[in-house]
Amino acid sequence: MVNLSIMPAALRRVARALRAGGTEVIEVGAEGIAPLKPGEALVRVEAAGLNHAETLIRSGRYVVRLPFPYALGGEGSGTVIATGPDTSDLSVGARVCWGAVLGSCATFVTAPASLLAPIPDELGFEEAACIPAAGLTAGGLARVWPVAGRSAAVWGAAGGVGRMLTAILAEQGVDVIGIASGGRIQDVRAIGARLAIDRTIEDAAAAVRAHTGGRGVDAVFDPIGAATLETSLRMLAPRGLLISYGELSGPPVIDLHELFRGSFFVTKYNGLHWVEGIHEFPVLIRKALARAVKNRAVISDIAGRFALDDAAQAYRALESGAQGKVLVLPNAARLDPWH
Ligand SMILES: NC(=O)c1ccc[n+]([C@@H]2O[C@H](COP(=O)([O-])OP(=O)(O)OC[C@H]3O[C@@H](n4cnc5c(N)ncnc54)[C@H](OP(=O)(O)O)[C@@H]3O)[C@@H](O)[C@H]2O)c1
Repeated sequence: MVNLSIMPAALRRVARALRAGGTEVIEVGAEGIAPLKPGEALVRVEAAGLNHAETLIRSGRYVVRLPFPYALGGEGSGTVIATGPDTSDLSVGARVCWGAVLGSCATFVTAPASLLAPIPDELGFEEAACIPAAGLTAGGLARVWPVAGRSAAVWGAAGGVGRMLTAILAEQGVDVIGIASGGRIQDVRAIGARLAIDRTIEDAAAAVRAHTGGRGVDAVFDPIGAATLETSLRMLAPRGLLISYGELSGPPVIDLHELFRGSFFVTKYNGLHWVEGIHEFPVLIRKALARAVKNRAVISDIAGRFALDDAAQAYRALESGAQGKVLVLPNAARLDPWH
């Protein structure tokens, strides 16, 4: 059994949500690191990736609830500095990344070794921290509908999840239409979309209809919610499926009568129902890392890098619609966030 006396770190600094609310409830403090249990590893966190779901959960009004106070952050990358018993596959010094480990917005995190995916030599810590949640989510989303040989529209195609999803669907032979804003549509094309729509100057539904000869697409992947619901339904072919997997603009509310127009299907995606279990997480992350090595365009832009003490500012950047991934670099000296 590893114990504190031989642990390389006994304390960590961590960002926590003290109670339900906005970024004003975030505080950074110190706490002890418990001795490692069998199957656990201690990782020095080099980069923690922030995710939109964290904002919903911290509000205290979302379908997923955590007891307050809790430690923030779910994904990241870093270096293994200690291993507990039963972790023979993992070495001290290994460069790893992960998704779904609560408390990752911290100088160190204790994680199940089985959830850690090795970072390929070609990728740095910052790139690797952009990949786990995007890879997991896109990998699950691509299973929702037998889309091979069919057509799909992807909102937020230049976002973290959207890039990975566009790549996977295109690899499966889907006629992918990616929707993004401004110059980001170049990236969407580079990832494999047959058509990239600039939502800031085009009517997205009309462009989708024109591309599909008026029929519409078989599936729409929508992480935006309230603001795009109506347009998403206008894009669908008869018996098409709307996959709602986020609510960046607020929760979508559907009147069933709206589905009558095309006998449409709608699902609210919960990733846990589309993987066989948590053991699949590192498998999907490894695939996403390999995809990123082959084509760096699938890796999200980085919108900003923040020191741990500025965690609240980092979450504010995430919530203000920053284009790209917001990272916290917990072991870096003070940073200029936007460089
Ligand atoms: N259910 C799950 O398991 C799960 C897991 C992970 C993520 N998610 C959800 O997936 C979504 C995307 O996450 P992400 O990490 O990829 O975010 P992201 O990197 O911030 O990308 C989202 C993109 O959506 C576009 N967008 C934002 N507001 C929009 C609007 N009003 N209308 C149209 N497009 C808009 C923006 O790109 P452009 O400006 O280029 O259009 C933005 O970059 C979030 O809602 C998140 O909560 C769900």
